[in-house]
Amino acid sequence: MEYPVYNDASEIVSVCPEYAAQNDYHAMYSSVFSGIVTDPKLMTIPVDDHLVHRGDGVFEAFKMVDGKVFLLDEHLARLERSAGDIFLELRHSKEEMIAICKQLTEVSGLKDILFRLYASRGPGGFTPNPYASVGPQLYLIASALRNPAPELYENGAKIGFSQVEIKSGGLAKVKTCNYISNVLMAKEAVDQKLNFMINVTADGLLGEGPTENIAYLNQDNELIYSSFDHTLRGTTLLRLQELSGELQAEGLISGMREAKQSADELYNAKEVFMIGTTLDALPVVEVAGKVVGDGKPGPVSKLARKLLKKDQQENGTVL
Ligand SMILES: Cc1ncc(COP(=O)(O)O)c(C=O)c1O
Repeated sequence: MEYPVYNDASEIVSVCPEYAAQNDYHAMYSSVFSGIVTDPKLMTIPVDDHLVHRGDGVFEAFKMVDGKVFLLDEHLARLERSAGDIFLELRHSKEEMIAICKQLTEVSGLKDILFRLYASRGPGGFTPNPYASVGPQLYLIASALRNPAPELYENGAKIGFSQVEIKSGGLAKVKTCNYISNVLMAKEAVDQKLNFMINVTADGLLGEGPTENIAYLNQDNELIYSSFDHTLRGTTLLRLQELSGELQAEGLISGMREAKQSADELYNAKEVFMIGTTLDALPVVEVAGKVVGDGKPGPVSKLARKLLKKDQQENGTVL
């Protein structure tokens, strides 16, 4: 069979109905042509960008809720750290990236947005050599924010322990575009009809989900989260730590801290929840087939979610 040759993006329109799935993608900035496109078919990354063929780049995902961006500074600070960790120079300053987000918001006309930001090594060479590139690039996409189904919060999530080897050598701490172990964890969850898998270190310590952290309430009412030695420094989790005085004031927790704890501790937990940008705080009612507490979403995760939502309204950044 001979395949048709398309010389222009517009020619693909008529033959690619599956592009309809991209209706949520409203606007994308690309430094390759230094502009913004609104047609999803044009939202592309050059095939020879090292991001595509080597996963050589770093990324962030952050949300705008009702016109305010949640934890914008924290996400951009983590982006800078991630880029530094892989010796990637960011093409744009923080102020320029914020200005791009502002224009994408105006172009999209949306008030609830998930921003996806990819800072790449750039096109050129098709080799792993990071120096064989024309220079770093930035791709920033504004898509409609889709929240998880309300039933998930009402019923709670079911999680299991992953067989996928945890990232080592500090890579777990960097938000690189090389997320293959996270992908395999997401696959495991779907295959096992669970909501999330949690990774575990070789020493049996509790890790995190594919794109979210995990926290649990121990028998002493301490809210514990996994060590950042082998998990990503979640912006949502750290914000909850700052807001945790309210959980304490309500008498729900005695404190909140990072700890190296055995993954088995989840079996003795009074409450478990997942926490991250898209979820806020999502209760877990079952761990590897064992019921958590009374099997219903508990008060700590409920208040944690409420606090995060309130914070988004009160302290989000207006662009
Ligand atoms: C591996 C991993 N852990 C945790 C998180 C949660 O981080 P955040 O709360 O900043 O979304 C993410 C998402 O960015 C992630 O990719």
